[in-house]
Amino acid sequence: MSRSRMHDTRLLSRRMSAADAAALIAPGTSVAMSGFTGSGYPKAVPFALAERIEAANRAGEDFRIKVMTGASTAPELDGALAKAEGIELRLPYQSDPEARKRINDGRMHYIDMHLSHVAQHAWFGFFGKIDTAVVEVSAVGEDGALVPSTSIGNNKTWLDLADKVILEVNAWQPEGLDGMHDIYYGTRLPPHRQPIPLTRPEQRIGEPWLQVDPDKIVAVVETDSPDRNTPFKPLDEDSKRIAGHLIDFFKHEVRQGRLPANLLPLQSGVGNIANAVLAGLGESGFTDLAGFTEVIQDGMLELIDAGIMRSASATALSLSPDANLRFKQRIDFYRERVVMRPQEISNHPELVRRLGCIAMNGMIEADLYGNINSTHIMGSRIQNGIGGSGDFARNGYLSVFLTPSVAKGGAISCIVPMVSHVDHTEHDVSILVTEHGLADLRGLAPRQRAQLVIERCAHPDYRDALRDYFERASRDSYGKHTPHLLAEALSWHQRFVETGDMRG
Ligand code: COA
Repeated sequence: MSRSRMHDTRLLSRRMSAADAAALIAPGTSVAMSGFTGSGYPKAVPFALAERIEAANRAGEDFRIKVMTGASTAPELDGALAKAEGIELRLPYQSDPEARKRINDGRMHYIDMHLSHVAQHAWFGFFGKIDTAVVEVSAVGEDGALVPSTSIGNNKTWLDLADKVILEVNAWQPEGLDGMHDIYYGTRLPPHRQPIPLTRPEQRIGEPWLQVDPDKIVAVVETDSPDRNTPFKPLDEDSKRIAGHLIDFFKHEVRQGRLPANLLPLQSGVGNIANAVLAGLGESGFTDLAGFTEVIQDGMLELIDAGIMRSASATALSLSPDANLRFKQRIDFYRERVVMRPQEISNHPELVRRLGCIAMNGMIEADLYGNINSTHIMGSRIQNGIGGSGDFARNGYLSVFLTPSVAKGGAISCIVPMVSHVDHTEHDVSILVTEHGLADLRGLAPRQRAQLVIERCAHPDYRDALRDYFERASRDSYGKHTPHLLAEALSWHQRFVETGDMRG
């Protein structure tokens, strides 16, 4: 074990094992934890709690808890608690396969919500009482100040609202994180809200440490465990094409005077396509870029390394093991360029609108009119959740959605007549991109949009079927503003289940 990072002598008597700390959590309670995209989540207490829950459930007790976090975590938290059948309700975002299975089987409730809403909904009291906060930090100062780790998420809110607090102090996290965070304590509830004084993406408006009432701390567990983020896939040709279309569009917008030469602050969703876009930006000739986003992944770090991106603001790091090593080795360099904020600030609608972010997110499917489904397969089975995509898409200067034109080896078109679930409405979407092209929906009425989406974005194998649907809908639809043949629009999705292929 590395040198202890717990420097507050008042808390020495509260140091204990993860199992002893987990024993302080009661069945049926609400537990708010740190963690955001595989970073900064508690690594020991949830696992010990899962073992306790498993034993209790084997003995015939019903031991389940409500789990809240920043966003997704890792197998040691979501996976372990889900496998133990220990989660009654989960919010606000998760991507763990074990939890996903139980949510879709109807064994676990899940509230999938905008990430910027979580803290305020907790303060409004919409989630009820929060019994315990379990929060990973990278150090506790002599005065009790908490140095956050690789994500902040909702930790400020959890520490403020929970009745009792369990800290995990993780010596694996680099000491040099100290000073990278910016915790803004100025948020108020309506009607007392004031403007958030942030006008540049790199600006610091708060303080570097989290505060907590020491009397609420019931346990301190020391750990030395890595974050768990997976490496990105090598870039495939389709991702490179998607990135290429978007970068050509940015250059066009600069020539038209609608974007500055260094673009506007970039928000980039998670996943391989988002990473490909960032890689493409690295070779595009753009410089002096800024990130105002939720998660910093490898692609953004590479832009910072190359001097192409001057700064990045986010609530979490989501780095592959290689990138993480580089980050640790050059942490003084990154501390000058990276600002980590609570997610209520990193994703705040006021700030996203003021800064004019370019929002770039993945999707499951888009329809002819620009409505987007980011979360559900066949309208009922959740994949991950909306995450922060709505915070940025609804408020950004440009709202871009990206996807390959087909899924499941070509058996499903990601461009459909009517989406089977709506996360982002036609009113919040400006640009759609697939490997076949880019549809700029700004300033277009629904029927104009439909033609562009089919011709620019749909896979050639599906264009005839989509043109045929649109022509018949334009002729026979009840209204001609947004033409639809309702039964047929939904049976488009059903056809896949029956035939395994929507082309036939
Ligand atoms: N119909 C059926 N299945 C589809 C589909 C479609 N139209 N499009 C994708 N899928 C399936 C894929 O086949 C894959 O299934 P598998 O896991 O069984 O292989 C799964 O959905 C994920 O697709 P993948 O191509 O791996 O996509 P991805 O990793 O790029 O993720 C989203 C795409 C939409 C799931 C992801 O971007 C997401 O969760 N977005 C919502 C949250 C978000 O935007 N966060 C960022 C905000 S900061």
